Amino acid sequence: MASGTTRAVGVDIGGTGIKAGIVDLDRGELASDRVKVATPPGAHPPDVLAAVREVLETLGVADDATVPLGVAFPAIVKNGKTLSAANVSDEWIGFEAEKFFEKGLGRDIHFANDADVAGVAEVRFGAARDQPGLTILTTLGTGIGSALLYNGVLIPNSELGHVQRAKHGKDAEAYAAYSAMERDELTWEKWAKRLQWYYSHIEFLFSPDLFVVGGGVSKHADQFLHLLELRTPIVPAVHRNNAGIIGAAALALG
Ligand code: BGC
Repeated sequence: MASGTTRAVGVDIGGTGIKAGIVDLDRGELASDRVKVATPPGAHPPDVLAAVREVLETLGVADDATVPLGVAFPAIVKNGKTLSAANVSDEWIGFEAEKFFEKGLGRDIHFANDADVAGVAEVRFGAARDQPGLTILTTLGTGIGSALLYNGVLIPNSELGHVQRAKHGKDAEAYAAYSAMERDELTWEKWAKRLQWYYSHIEFLFSPDLFVVGGGVSKHADQFLHLLELRTPIVPAVHRNNAGIIGAAALALG
């Protein structure tokens, strides 16, 4: 790929969609169209691999191993292995996912949790830039993802979408993710009540300095963020739903 700027490709695999783009890392923004395909039903590894290949082909970078490639995934990622599977097939639990993608794509990749890379994007290029203390980025989508950033340094795999609702014994994300709003056909106001519970609880546990809200619904932040009453400032991710793509690409460059 010819280029006078620093570029890398980011792929953001989610429970519902797989998004990708070429990222200009000098500016921290997309240098291509944003490409999206649906996450294949069941999200089985071979089908997800085929979908990733498809978005790379659409971007024209499938066979260009000279451009760094970062891939983000909605699970705990430790030393290249996926260790959980909340909204994808259980086959990912304890799976050598990074090696699987590298073999299947015929190239090296950088592999990490989807919310963690969104956090990296917002620290480098967005709402958490130069933010001292603890920033907690949450992505509100199919699940709830989280990134803990302390003085700009990522503490990976925080998984705060899985804090439990006392009495109900259920994951917070099943109650308060954007998918729960859609599933239960909630108004913004009703959903905001669930978010109020969620963010108050996280605020109590961590006393953060800043909340950043990412995920697809962050483009509608003006519909619900002002309804929340918290001690902690809460702002939308500057890069909205592209934070995952940008962060994955940033990570690929190191
Ligand atoms: C997963 C996380 C992921 C989040 C957002 C959760 O269900 O456990 O790893 O970051 O969804 O995709």
